[in-house]
Amino acid sequence: MTDQNKPDQATTSEKPWGGRFSEPTDAFVERFTASVGFDQRLYHHDITGSIAHATMLAAVGVLTEEERDTIIEGLKAVKEDIEAGTFEWSVSLEDVHMNIEARLTDRIGITGKKLHTGRSRNDQVATDIRLYLRDEIDVIAEELHRLQLGLLDLAEREAETIMPGFTHLQTAQPVTFGHHLLAWYEMLVRDAERLQDCRKRVNVMPLGAAALAGTTYPIDRNMTAQLLGFDRPSENSLDSVSDRDFAIEFCSFSALLMTHLSRFSEELVLWTSAQFDFVDLPDRFCTGSSIMPQKKNPDVPELVRGKTGRVNGHLISLLTLMKSQPLAYNKDNQEDKEPLFDTVDTIKGCLKAYADMIPAIRAKADNMRVAAKRGFSTATDLADYLVKKGVAFRDAHEIVGKSVAFGVAEGRDLADMTLDELKQFSDVIGEDVFDVLTLEARSRPGITWVAPRRIRCGPPSVERASCWAESSQVTRRAV
Ligand code: ARG
Repeated sequence: MTDQNKPDQATTSEKPWGGRFSEPTDAFVERFTASVGFDQRLYHHDITGSIAHATMLAAVGVLTEEERDTIIEGLKAVKEDIEAGTFEWSVSLEDVHMNIEARLTDRIGITGKKLHTGRSRNDQVATDIRLYLRDEIDVIAEELHRLQLGLLDLAEREAETIMPGFTHLQTAQPVTFGHHLLAWYEMLVRDAERLQDCRKRVNVMPLGAAALAGTTYPIDRNMTAQLLGFDRPSENSLDSVSDRDFAIEFCSFSALLMTHLSRFSEELVLWTSAQFDFVDLPDRFCTGSSIMPQKKNPDVPELVRGKTGRVNGHLISLLTLMKSQPLAYNKDNQEDKEPLFDTVDTIKGCLKAYADMIPAIRAKADNMRVAAKRGFSTATDLADYLVKKGVAFRDAHEIVGKSVAFGVAEGRDLADMTLDELKQFSDVIGEDVFDVLTLEARSRPGITWVAPRRIRCGPPSVERASCWAESSQVTRRAV
């Protein structure tokens, strides 16, 4: 008599699906089709999902309470093995799901074979990825929020620092560095909103869809969903096991976030150059050159800018992976993991680097000011001054254009001309013109922008408001 509770080595060492096969899998095909090399990162969520599934199966009478307890204990022990590094992952067991299930059966015997009742790897893997991504989204949201707060702090510090604003990378009009920083902040507000919106669609439970058509067991999907913290079970079984649009949405959010971080990076790289010399990055965020002793390279922004390429690439990978798949699950979907995992790792790294680095940025206010004085940045203000004195805007534009041409020839800014020199272009110009030609002129929106803005993302407990007051001070109050 065989002991029913001892694992049957002959069957556990074979493929769990091996019953209808008459020859072993080709050795190369076994390696080619295996995902355990990368999906083992899902072990924690796989076990969490299995514990909830077993709990539900017992509640509906498919498992006994004793079987449930044995399975849960066994799964916890498997998890400990994995975390202690004593778990041997087997390529012949293909993926994280079959590795864990086989080890469970090795440990607890035949009861382990009952865990997969009413479930398929198709709904299991879709559930695991969603649980994994939901956790990562929450970590990413925190880090993004930390970066936003760092930007707000820096913007407050630099609320009075005047710099040239650019269009076409040519000097356009003066703004404050604080105002410029809050443009970055706004981009991140939208990114954070997109992330939370994406989370809603991630947090839906596929379990119960089984292979594609549901199961005949009297399962309680609401119970499993509740145990796993999902908002609700999914509606359609074919859709549940096949679509990865939630992962595509996350990668789309990530591509936009990286595009924004890449734009910040481009500016930081320009600004730390000797040619601009607007900001200083602390040494701990830079590296040197092995040949040129004077070099201090802005590696962190450069790398963040560079990593945008792989994140954009992963979005395209997932879109292409999905585009021709017939319903329902196809093995193609195994290819969803590496792009998704790398996207998560990459954006977490970039956000951490930025959240650590931004508060440490030092603005070189004198250099910014000198640059703002160059390039006739107050020319639009002179045009507006003329309009207020009754000149039509197009005529005012022409008058200022001529004044600028004179300044270019003389090598002098508008503010450095005498009243008589200015008057040769229009006799409505009076002594009060110098009020608008100074960089600090209060009439200029780039300097006195009023834009109350609440941080709507991230943990509500840290909600704050940032406000450009008319004095051009940034004030912040708790809301
Ligand atoms: N490793 C597979 C994946 O990641 C799990 C699902 C396999 N399902 C199947 N019917 N072969 O997609």
